[in-house]
Amino acid sequence: MSRMFVPGPVDVADEVLQAQAAPMLPHRSKEFETLFQRVSERSKALFYTQYRVFLTASSGTGLQEAAVRNFVERRVLCCVNGAFAERWYEVAFSNGKQAEKLAFEWDQPVDPQRVAETVRRGQFEAVTVVHNETSTGLQNPVREIAEAVRAVAPETLILVDAVSSLGGAKIEMDAWGLDMVLTASQKCLALPPGLGLGAVSDRAMKKAERVENRGWYFDLVRMDRHRLKDSTPATPAMSLIYALDKQLDRIFAEGLENRFARHSAMARRVQEWAEGRGFALFAPEGFRSQTVTTVRNERGWEVSAVNKFLLERGMRIANGYGALKNVTLRIAHMGEIQMEDIEHLLEALDEFSRRAG
Ligand SMILES: Cc1ncc(COP(=O)(O)O)c(C=O)c1O
Repeated sequence: MSRMFVPGPVDVADEVLQAQAAPMLPHRSKEFETLFQRVSERSKALFYTQYRVFLTASSGTGLQEAAVRNFVERRVLCCVNGAFAERWYEVAFSNGKQAEKLAFEWDQPVDPQRVAETVRRGQFEAVTVVHNETSTGLQNPVREIAEAVRAVAPETLILVDAVSSLGGAKIEMDAWGLDMVLTASQKCLALPPGLGLGAVSDRAMKKAERVENRGWYFDLVRMDRHRLKDSTPATPAMSLIYALDKQLDRIFAEGLENRFARHSAMARRVQEWAEGRGFALFAPEGFRSQTVTTVRNERGWEVSAVNKFLLERGMRIANGYGALKNVTLRIAHMGEIQMEDIEHLLEALDEFSRRAG
C-alpha cells in the first residue's frame, strides 16, 4: 500500500473512495435532504459545537474568504506567522477589507498578549488566526488567544483556520469561545479535496446579517436559511458528502479522543526521530503541530532525491513550503496514517541516510 506523508491531499480509505461512486440524487429530493441533514448534524461533533456546520463546495481558501466577507464590515486583524495566515490576510485585503497584519517570526507562535494589546487600541471587528500552520508545523495557542481577546474586547469575533488540524487535534469551538472554525476535506479528515466545512457561532451569524456585500456564493446568511431546510443555495458537492458520511462512521468508530491521541503519538515519534538524527525542529517546544512535523534541513538532504528513494517504496514526504523549500522538509502524520506507517517511513529514511553517507 502506498502512503503519502504530505500535508494534503492525503490518502483516502478505499471504502470512502467507493462511497463517492453512489448514484447522484436530485439535490432538492427528500433522500438527499435527509443525508445532508444527517451529515451536517454529525459534523458538529468534530468541532465540539452546538451551533452549525456549513458544507461548501470549495477548498479551505473559499471559507477563509467567506469568513471575511460575512463577519467583517471594515476592520480585521490578521495574525500572521506562516504562509496560510499570510494568505488569509491577502484574502481579506483583496476583498476590500481594512486588514491589519500583526506579524510574528515564522518559528514563533502568535503571542496572545500582543494580540490583545493590538485589539485594545484597534477596534477590530474580528481577529483571524491559523491554528496549525502547515507551512511551518507550528500550532498556535488559539484558546489562549481567544481568551486574551475576550478579556479586552468581548465583542470581537475570533475566526480560526483549522484546515490542517481539525479531526487530528482537539479544537473545542464552543468551550474556547471561537466564532468560526473552518477546515477542508483533504487533510485530517482524510477525504478527497473539494469540500469545505465551516462551523459558525450564533453571534457571528447575527453580525453577518448586518454586514453588507457578503457576495452570493459564500453568503452564510443565505446558506443558513437553506441549511434550516436541509439544503444548500447552489448544487452541493454530492459525492464528497457521501464520502464524508462514510468517513464520519469511521472517525466515530475510532473515537475522537483516540484519533487525537494517535496523531499526537505519531508527532512525538517523528519529533524524537528527527532530533535523534540531527535535524532541529522548526517550531519551538510547546507549539509543535500534532499533524505535520517541519524540520530544518541541517543535513542538506536533497528532498527530490529523498522522494525518489521513497517513491520506489510507495511513500513520499513534503518539501518545505514557499521560501522554506529545501531549507526545511515536512513529514505529515495525519488522517489515515498509523504508527506502523511512520515506523516504516522512518526506517526508509534511515536507509536513505546510510546510502547517502
Ligand atoms: C492551514 C491552511 N490554511 C488554508 C489552506 C488553504 O486550503 P485549500 O488549499 O484547501 O484552499 C491550507 C492548505 O494547505 C492550509 O494548510
